[in-house]
Amino acid sequence: MTGSIVLFGPPGAGKGTQAGRISELTGKPQVSTGDMLRSAVANGTELGHEAKTFMEAGLLVPDSIIIGLISERLRDEDAAKGVLFDGFPRTIPQAEALAEIVSVEAVISIEVPDESIVERIVGRRMDPETGEIYHIEFKPPPKEILARVIQRKDDTEETVRSRLSAYHEQTAPLARWYSDKGLLIRIDGNRSIDDVGNSIASML
Ligand code: AP5
Repeated sequence: MTGSIVLFGPPGAGKGTQAGRISELTGKPQVSTGDMLRSAVANGTELGHEAKTFMEAGLLVPDSIIIGLISERLRDEDAAKGVLFDGFPRTIPQAEALAEIVSVEAVISIEVPDESIVERIVGRRMDPETGEIYHIEFKPPPKEILARVIQRKDDTEETVRSRLSAYHEQTAPLARWYSDKGLLIRIDGNRSIDDVGNSIASML
């Protein structure tokens, strides 16, 4: 594939979990707006300051901020042959803005019912040193790193519900938008991490 790939799905669907493998298979760098925003918050930048309140409330960060962030990232040399978008676009205006700057070759939609999402997100842990994503039950962190794994601030049951509402209201309509363009590939995400990964790999 010569263009970019979009990893699409609700919060906790497994986009970040699958991104590493897809990136390795395709040679496209992962571009995660969530990671970029979290790093801006951690570094105390003006952008981070603006985004923080939205993120902690489980609301989408305004389109103008996100589109600016992505346009800048796509100027980097490693983006020349397409990237793997993780968590972007999330609204129709974001997708329209993206269509003007790069060609999207495929949109991989990882589909997981809401009932499974809360359990996945509340149990998620991250290794701040490697960025590796774990789950207390489905992918337990190894003993030697247990002391350093962290929980994301927006991974509470209450915030997950707001994130799910934002997903259904503002992001889910994009599935239809991309399907109408013949780009949407639906993957059943309610299976083991390996099974989901194998299905995605077979589509690439
Ligand atoms: P972001 O960081 O993008 O969060 P998200 O979309 O809510 O996605 P997550 O990172 O929560 O989930 P994921 O699909 O990557 O799942 P994961 O692989 O970790 O965004 C955070 C915030 O930033 C947003 O709320 C918003 O405020 C803002 N933002 C970001 N992008 C934006 C944009 N474009 N526009 C506006 N605002 C934006 O897996 C989850 C858990 O499940 C893990 O514990 C994992 O181990 C486990 N798991 C994964 N797969 C499986 C499986 N198959 N079976 C069992 N467990 C599994």
